[in-house]
Amino acid sequence: MEKKVIDGNKYFNQDCINGAQENLESNSVDLIITDPPYGIEGDTLDNHYNRDENFVVDGYVEIPANEYNDFSHKWVKQAERVLKPGGAIYIVSGYTNLYDVLDALKSTKLEEVNHLIWKYNFGVYTKKKYISSHYHILFYQKPGAERTFNLYSRYGFDEKDEKGGSLNYQDREDVWEINREYKPGENKNKNELPTQLLTKILQYSSNQGDLICDFFMGGFTTPRVAIGLKRNFVGFEISEQIYQNGIKKIREVEPGALLEEVRSPEHNQPRNQGEKWTTAEKEKLIKRYRALCQKYNYKKKVIQQLQKELGRGKFGIKRMIKIIREEQKDKELKIFSND
Ligand SMILES: C[S@@+](CC[C@H](N)C(=O)[O-])C[C@H]1O[C@@H](n2cnc3c(N)ncnc32)[C@H](O)[C@@H]1O
Repeated sequence: MEKKVIDGNKYFNQDCINGAQENLESNSVDLIITDPPYGIEGDTLDNHYNRDENFVVDGYVEIPANEYNDFSHKWVKQAERVLKPGGAIYIVSGYTNLYDVLDALKSTKLEEVNHLIWKYNFGVYTKKKYISSHYHILFYQKPGAERTFNLYSRYGFDEKDEKGGSLNYQDREDVWEINREYKPGENKNKNELPTQLLTKILQYSSNQGDLICDFFMGGFTTPRVAIGLKRNFVGFEISEQIYQNGIKKIREVEPGALLEEVRSPEHNQPRNQGEKWTTAEKEKLIKRYRALCQKYNYKKKVIQQLQKELGRGKFGIKRMIKIIREEQKDKELKIFSND
């Protein structure tokens, strides 16, 4: 077993089941992001994809199909143990072994949060059937504490597309369309996860300084992005060749280097959301509501403007208008026919 510690982050060239048992304390990890081997013949993977295999690092270790269920139970059990209460796990799985991974998860106390679909394109070739273009991402959490979910980490509450649709809502839909990265001329692992996908998971489900873990590091993409976003990291890779290649790459990563590049919203959340309404603020709401109704024909526009001016969420504003109307029996406040 080889272990390297770089900038305080730990990388083990070891089987993840023994590795976790020997090196990770119970309730110590904030977030696991992992992409286990697929349990299909590793060497035939190349036949499925249109790409130059000369730059793919050899040594990928596969799990025989008949051992996959038992293997999944063992590593998922370790993942459950090492996660903190409230900690989350994202497992990327193809459909071939989805049953085994779900079966393993079901045998633990981990709770499902979302079953995400990741739609990608990377040139899978078929002749007599439809083309497979998705993976499953199983997002689970350990019960016992509130989980981290940074609702406004990427898109603010009031950011819209050109048709007026909420960008925050769209970003949080459970089908993600993210393409594989092509890295011509660069040494890589067989199935590297895209930076964009890892960034999204890390932004929503972790904070700077959290401990992130990957049981199957492969091309070290999880540590690369996690460290780039100033998280701490610990992980395992069983193949020596793949591990050594990953170590070389990770030495070049500067902690925090990705922070400048990631999508971040103008406003994290409505600045007064959750605050008690003051009398002055209620008066301002009535005054501005009336004025804006003169200006705009659409209630939606009026509410959007009020959200900006008052720093409150849409539902909070609508609820307060209703309350004031009932409290004051203010019929004039009923301006739109659907009020
Ligand atoms: C699908 S790849 C991971 C790809 C990685 N997420 C990336 O973006 O490059 C799975 C990796 O798990 C490794 N592996 C297989 N069995 C393992 C085990 N028992 N413990 C740790 N790593 C293992 C394989 O060698 C392979 O590199």
